[in-house]
Amino acid sequence: MKLTKLKYLGIVTAGALLASCAAGVDDTGLEYAPQMYHSTPYEPLTQIVDEDRGSWLDSNDEDGHGEFYNSNPYNQFKMNMREPVANTVRRGQPLPVRLTKDELEVAATTLVSPFPADDQSVVKDGKVLYDSYCKHCHGAKGNADGLVADKYAGVANLNGAAYLEITEGHIFHVITFGKGLMGAHGSQVSPEDRWRIARYVKELQKSN
Ligand code: HEC
Repeated sequence: MKLTKLKYLGIVTAGALLASCAAGVDDTGLEYAPQMYHSTPYEPLTQIVDEDRGSWLDSNDEDGHGEFYNSNPYNQFKMNMREPVANTVRRGQPLPVRLTKDELEVAATTLVSPFPADDQSVVKDGKVLYDSYCKHCHGAKGNADGLVADKYAGVANLNGAAYLEITEGHIFHVITFGKGLMGAHGSQVSPEDRWRIARYVKELQKSN
């Protein structure tokens, strides 16, 4: 009696094992309790738009869709995870160059501050703006020792020999469009305020 039971169990197990063998590499074979493998809620990286996908065996009966149908009907292309906004840069990839050298040179030599050279209130306002928008990277005196510079390598030392001769137009353009590793600040700082900051940077350089 015992032996017959064991035999019976053996046949059932062997049958189940055989039945779960896949026919091809793309076929996962028969799955038991498929709802344990396949999430019914939306998953960010799953995007199967075919509503008939799945079968009576592995379908999710509540919504009538196949078990594998896992797309978001409310998003474009039934996507679950939205596409990143245009011009998103992948982590670890270099940032795109925002300015060509020529464009910067033209800006540096042709753009002129609208503020008179002796206007001290421009320097005063420029300091307040610099302290808000630039100090955390470039440091209070421009020496690239802001708190962010600790973690964010490559911040320019504005008192370095290479920068002492840059014009206010040059600085204005760099604030507007960014340069290399530095992001653009054009959308945050008004053009007038960019000129105020540029004036202040030139003053900073003199005081060092
Ligand atoms: C998030 C940090 C960060 C902030 C904020 C920042 N910068 Fe920069 N800045 C950099 C880095 C990094 C560089 C070096 C860019 C490179 O050469 O790749 C740089 C370079 C510069 C340069 C030299 C550009 C050249 O011609 O090579 C100037 C001038 C400058 N920044 C001014 C400013 C001013 C003014 C502000 C405030 C509006 C500012 N930066 C805000 C990080 C920053």
